[in-house]
Amino acid sequence: TPGPTPSAAPSAAVRDSAFLRACRREPVPHTPVWFMRQAGRSLPEYRKLREGIAMLDSCMMPDLITEITLQPVRRHKVDAAIFFSDIVVPLKAIGMDLDIKPGVGPVVAQPIRSKADLAQLRDLTPEDVPYVTEAVKQLTAELGGTPLIGFAGAPFTLASYLVEGGPSKNHEFTKAMMYGEPELWAALLDRLADITSQFLKVQIEAGASAVQLFDSWAGALSIADYRASVMPASAKVLASVASYDVPRIHFGVGTGELLGAMGEAGADVVGVDWRIPLDDAVRRIGPGKAVQGNLDPAVLFTPDATLRAKADEVLAAGRAAEGHIFNLGHGVLPNTDPERLTALVEHVHSASAR
Ligand code: CP3
Repeated sequence: TPGPTPSAAPSAAVRDSAFLRACRREPVPHTPVWFMRQAGRSLPEYRKLREGIAMLDSCMMPDLITEITLQPVRRHKVDAAIFFSDIVVPLKAIGMDLDIKPGVGPVVAQPIRSKADLAQLRDLTPEDVPYVTEAVKQLTAELGGTPLIGFAGAPFTLASYLVEGGPSKNHEFTKAMMYGEPELWAALLDRLADITSQFLKVQIEAGASAVQLFDSWAGALSIADYRASVMPASAKVLASVASYDVPRIHFGVGTGELLGAMGEAGADVVGVDWRIPLDDAVRRIGPGKAVQGNLDPAVLFTPDATLRAKADEVLAAGRAAEGHIFNLGHGVLPNTDPERLTALVEHVHSASAR
């Protein structure tokens, strides 16, 4: 049965783009490329626009979201845009007291440690995030044939910020809840799964042509704990948007041991960091999925010849996949020279031209 029809159906040019074709494991004219954290971070025109505007405030201003999202597309000629927002925006939108501290990351006023604390997490409705709907609509009009990727944080990664109260290296309070209070943990992840599902649906309904679920910190988990205590919530999110004709990308850092399970959770495309070669990742993930990745972002700090050789290694390993979207193994590093990113896009396009 056909799924719900988003209010803005993608154009033929978007549907036929190299990015969406690779997601669907169809032949492509060249390997598509985009970069996690391409919006913001290294671009001077981004820093200029953001002057005097707090990160979370900027995520609620449709015109600004649209401009920041378009900047890397214009500059680098990447094959997809990623919506400018943050994984904590839906939590802020339902009234949680949190902020993004520059150079630190998301910080939560009252960490979630007990059943009573769950009351902070009510359902998200489209009315909570009108600026998201507005910006996605503007973007799909401006982007022409370039697809727009919507995104959200996966339940585990969001839970880590909420339980720890901020960024964490060891995730000790989070894991303590997971191991010690399994019912509270399951309730928390289920609440987050519903909020995340809603946030993705808002973006898809407004016209996003793919979504990425970021479980950035899932690599901190064993495969057994991931399967038992985290995968069900991520699977619920991915299933909630399965009826749309929109590819689902699932990414985390340090997830070499989890790649198979992250695919099984309901991804069409599995994102891979730089720690394992893509051909190895393809064997772990199995057939029927595309892969995305996985150049070490530090390679952008090497001379041109090295950058090209390392990109060629990624392209060669990516040929083992039924579909390959070139990306970095994690986000663009803050001090990256934007001109190297533009050169990398050119190289990936020319070296992979069929
Ligand atoms: O990818 C993009 O270019 C689109 C926008 C985007 C942002 N955050 C904007 C942002 C995306 C996709 C995210 C996702 C995100 N946010 C993740 C998952 C991706 C990943 O990197 O693993 C996570 C874990 C967060 C939480 C978060 N927000 C962190 C760790 C930080 C960095 C803190 C810092 O300053 O180093 C943020 C802030 C943030 N989100 C910035 C941007 C552009 C930097 C803030 C600024 O420019 O003032």
